[in-house]
Amino acid sequence: MGKIALAIHGGCGVMAKLDLTEEEWAASRVDLGRALKAGWEVLSKGGSALDAVQAAVVVMEDSPHFNAGYGAALNTDGKHELDASIMDGRTLEAGAVTLVSRIRNPIKAARKIMEKGDAILLGGPAADEFARKAGLDMVEPDYFTTPRRIKALAAMKAHAAAGTAAKASESEKHGTVGAVALDGEGHLAAATSTGGYNNKPDGRIGDTPIIGAGTYARDGACAVSGTGKGEYFMRYAVGHEVGARISYLGESLEKAAAKVIQEDLKKHNIGAGLVAVGADGSITAPYNTDGMFRGWVTPEGEFFVGTHGEIFQIQP
Ligand code: GLY
Repeated sequence: MGKIALAIHGGCGVMAKLDLTEEEWAASRVDLGRALKAGWEVLSKGGSALDAVQAAVVVMEDSPHFNAGYGAALNTDGKHELDASIMDGRTLEAGAVTLVSRIRNPIKAARKIMEKGDAILLGGPAADEFARKAGLDMVEPDYFTTPRRIKALAAMKAHAAAGTAAKASESEKHGTVGAVALDGEGHLAAATSTGGYNNKPDGRIGDTPIIGAGTYARDGACAVSGTGKGEYFMRYAVGHEVGARISYLGESLEKAAAKVIQEDLKKHNIGAGLVAVGADGSITAPYNTDGMFRGWVTPEGEFFVGTHGEIFQIQP
C-alpha cells in the first residue's frame, strides 16, 4: 500500500475567541478529531479515498459545531437549503445536491448521484426525493435547526437592518465542512457539505455543489475542498484553478493553493480557506482569515487539529 493522507476543514473566518465558549471550541476540536478518525480508519484499512472523505464529512454533518447537516445555517426565510458534493479523482466522476432540506446527510446523496451516473447535480425537492428512493435517512427540515443558528439568523438580520452585515462575526455568518484524501492505491477524492451562509437569499446556491469550484479531485494533481464566500470560489473556479496551476505550471500544492487563497481571493477582502492533498501525499490548509477549523493526519498516523494559530496533537 502506498502513502495515505487525509485533511479536513470545518469552515474558516474571523472566529473571534469570544464567539464561542472555551467548552464549545474544545468540543469542536473533539468533533474534528472524530471526523479524522472516521476517514483515517477507512484509509488505513486499505479503503478508498472516496469512502474516507465521505466518512469524515458525515461526522461533521452530524455535529452541531459546523455549518453542514445538523446545525446548518438558515436562509433569509428561516429555511435550510443544503448543498454538498463529492468527486472521485480516479475517474473524474462526481455527484452533488443543492437546495435540499430533508436528507440527513447530504454528502451521502451526492455519492448516490455520482454512482447512478445520469446526472452530476440534482436540486431541491427532486434531489430530496432521489435520496428517499435511494434509501437514505430522511428527516424533517427542522432537524437541522439548532438554537445557535436561530440566534445567528436574528443577529444577521439585525446587522442587515443596521447596514453592518460585513462586521458580523463569523459564527453569525457562514462555515462549510470538507475532506480530501489520498488512498493507498494512489487515488484522490474530495467532499464538501454546507448550509451556505446565515440569512442567504432564498434559492441561493454556493460553490459547494459546483464541481471545480468548492470541490475538485484529479489523480496526479490534487484534491481540494474550499470554505468561504462561495460566489468568489465560483468566479475563480478555485478547486480546478489549484489543480491547473499544479498540472500546467508545475507548482507545488502549497504554492498553488496559497496563490489562490492569499492573492486571488484575498484581494476581494473575503474570508477564504481550503484543504488540499497532493498526489504525493502532501497536505496544505491555507486560510486568509483569523482561523479555520481544520485537521490532518500525517503518514505516520499522528492526528492534529486546530482552529486558530495553535495546533493540537490529539490521540485518535
Ligand atoms: N462556501 C460555501 C458557500 O458559500 O455556500
